[in-house]
Amino acid sequence: MNVAVIGTGYVGLNTAVSLALHGHRVVGIDVDEEKVKQLKQRHCPIYEPGLEEAMRSVMDQGNLHFDHTLNGEAKEADILFICVGTPESADGSADLGYLFAVVEDVRAVYASNPVRRGVVIKSTVPVGTGDRVAELLGDCKELHVISNPEFLREGSALQDALNPSRIVIGAESAAAFSLMDELYEGYSCPMVKTTRRTAELIKYASNAFLATRISFMNELARLSTVLGTDIETVARGMGLDSRIGPEFLRAGIGYGGSCFPKDTIALLQVGKRNGVKLSILEQVREVNRTQPEWCVQLIREQLGGLHGKRVAVLGLSFKPDTDDIRESRSLPIIKQLLHEGAIVSAYDPISMETVAKLYPQVSYADDIYATLTGADAALLATEWKQCVNLDWQKAKAVMAKPVLFDGRNAWPSELVKQYGFAYQGVGRS
Ligand code: UDX
Repeated sequence: MNVAVIGTGYVGLNTAVSLALHGHRVVGIDVDEEKVKQLKQRHCPIYEPGLEEAMRSVMDQGNLHFDHTLNGEAKEADILFICVGTPESADGSADLGYLFAVVEDVRAVYASNPVRRGVVIKSTVPVGTGDRVAELLGDCKELHVISNPEFLREGSALQDALNPSRIVIGAESAAAFSLMDELYEGYSCPMVKTTRRTAELIKYASNAFLATRISFMNELARLSTVLGTDIETVARGMGLDSRIGPEFLRAGIGYGGSCFPKDTIALLQVGKRNGVKLSILEQVREVNRTQPEWCVQLIREQLGGLHGKRVAVLGLSFKPDTDDIRESRSLPIIKQLLHEGAIVSAYDPISMETVAKLYPQVSYADDIYATLTGADAALLATEWKQCVNLDWQKAKAVMAKPVLFDGRNAWPSELVKQYGFAYQGVGRS
């Protein structure tokens, strides 16, 4: 099919490349002409494993092009994916400004060209947004508004887009469903077909539930620390129950990223606007907000205060294999450490330059052992493999004191103790 993907950010670019790999003819559209120029020169603007190579190969095959307007190749599209950002607005609700600007463009370009097409919303949007879009496009009878939320994870985005766990399609007409059946013919995962509004809620509910699991484990980790129990073993014992499952039970310094923080508050706003208090979700956010403070408290107690103490922070991005630092929990931790007078050094394989703009007081080094040199404590904030697999002898030799805080429960606790480190994990010791 001919597909136009509007918005070439994380979701858009991975969607475009994956659909091209599935054999569709795709044009990626972005209003940012500089970005389009880069993309045309085969340069991928985001760091995502495998994406640039895959993008180049589908471009070479002629299945993927880029443009800055809907008035070119996109005019032929059978499906128009809307993949623009829906950032958090001042009150926490999703800002739909970019989305409605695209809808206006779609209306202007396709109203005079009445061929059956799907206008597919992949951006994460509050329940009812698809209905509003359908109203706005009401007189363009051949434009079918469809909700098809995206569940890809940064760091494995292309694989997730190529082999999704499920495809959720929310639509209001048989014609719309048949367009999507044709588009996803080559995919083998389960498909959930429902109304637009239900599909929209599935997306928010999924992210909110995953965030809930994490905050639940993080709160339990606080208790586990006091009880002297091991949260990792608790998680394993829980996860073997097929009703619970093993995923997303990892305690740590909290969740970050572009989705969980933004989508949980947006869902709270949806609840509020509809007169329903989502109290569990409020607590999920509260636990996540206070988890970095709780971690800093552990470090403070272990070091007998933070003033003048040297703390090395390993890993800055919100999770490994991404350059994304949005809502990364390393940031409030660094802020608090600096606030209390600690001397902070930091290392990350990709994100140091971005973080340096926020925290120029921190010293950054390309070498982990240089970051650890003279440190009174090291904190693992993001479980990059470079930060997890250390030469422990060397680490101990360069640090001023052998004190480790494992904010991701990823260091080998027994091994490091054998090397003489004092080890403290999240909910385990
Ligand atoms: C998430 C959803 O997983 C994805 O389906 C959705 O489309 C977008 O939001 P992403 O933000 O890329 O994806 O990352 P994810 O792997 O889900 O991790 C989010 C955060 O939770 C990270 O900061 C991670 O460190 C943290 N996390 C995850 C935990 O603290 N514990 C866990 O058990 C799992």
